[in-house]
Amino acid sequence: MSNKLRLTALGAALAFGLTACGGGGAGSGGGNDTADAAPEDLTIGVSMPTQTSERWIADGDNVQSQLEDAGYQVDLQFANDDIPTQSQQIDQMITQGADLLIVAAIDGTALSSQLQAAADANIPVISYDRLIRDTDNVDFYVTFDNFAVGQAQANALLVGLGLQNADGSAGSATGPFNIELFAGSLDDNNAFFFFNGAMDVLQPLIDDGTLVVPSGQTDIEQAATLRWQQETAQSRMETLLTGSYNDGTVVNGVLSPYDGISRGIITALQNAGYGPNLDSTPRALPVVTGQDAEIASVALIDQGVQSSTIFKDTRNLAEQAVTAAKAFLEGDEPEANDTETYDNGNKVVPSYLLPVETVFKADIQSVLVDSGYYTESEVQSGQAD
Ligand code: GAL
Repeated sequence: MSNKLRLTALGAALAFGLTACGGGGAGSGGGNDTADAAPEDLTIGVSMPTQTSERWIADGDNVQSQLEDAGYQVDLQFANDDIPTQSQQIDQMITQGADLLIVAAIDGTALSSQLQAAADANIPVISYDRLIRDTDNVDFYVTFDNFAVGQAQANALLVGLGLQNADGSAGSATGPFNIELFAGSLDDNNAFFFFNGAMDVLQPLIDDGTLVVPSGQTDIEQAATLRWQQETAQSRMETLLTGSYNDGTVVNGVLSPYDGISRGIITALQNAGYGPNLDSTPRALPVVTGQDAEIASVALIDQGVQSSTIFKDTRNLAEQAVTAAKAFLEGDEPEANDTETYDNGNKVVPSYLLPVETVFKADIQSVLVDSGYYTESEVQSGQAD
């Protein structure tokens, strides 16, 4: 064989080798030999951030039950919003032989060494709702259209204020209205998508004076709420009210990215004398948005206290996670419907994005009750049965 031929043959062999091992990042493609295993012999580690928020409990339950229906063993852990706990739980899943991981990270950048260990063990990793950042070792992302969530929250605020009708046409109100802006946790990539989506809608109205932010706090860093905590949001709202509204200025609307934050904001407003009953309280509660359709907030929407939320059907998100998990475990690639948007700092992670729905009081029955997400009695009581 001539040198040239030898080199060509070597190149072809290398290329073949690369193709055979490539295509899925960590774990996909057989190294783990899961393709030949029965689902009963495979364990999927599911790492959820916290049980203090009702939505993540629902996510955990939905993922677990759908995986078990498909025959898999499931190791479901909640990390109490504590980063070392989540790291430890994932380490343990790996050492106990998990065949695949589904992870909703507390801090999207804090799991590098766990994910390296997963990659070394050929364990595929699916990022669940929150993008895992700054690593190559994440194979797929299932989530909702997060920029669209932010736009929907801002539009819901405009509808609540009367500046816009629900169909997007111009409303009868003209403003100006006083609003305040809240964002999520800066260690969660979603917080940026929600805030940027919302500002895409709100900034032009701030620029033309229709909307005024009396506190002047319009940067995400100023608006952020660490760990999405209700108490943190309540105390920031209290500070805003004493700092920018103590001269009698009234707040008309609050952009909130998540129902837990909304409830903190509402508590601060109620403590400051805002209320739904204008006979006994001096000021009407402002329009407050939300996200996740948590039952406590759906009840508040039903009572006319919170204005809206964004419904993300966690049953569908769980279903996408399970579909992607099955594909990896069977040696295939899951189907992505977005391969451009979610750059995690190291690579664009192939994603499956689900649509979202805005829920006002008038939509509770058709969107949440008729679909079986909640019963009417849950909506009345504000508690899951
Ligand atoms: C985000 C998620 C939101 C909300 C928030 C607080 O990552 O996308 O829907 O749940 O966390 O838990």
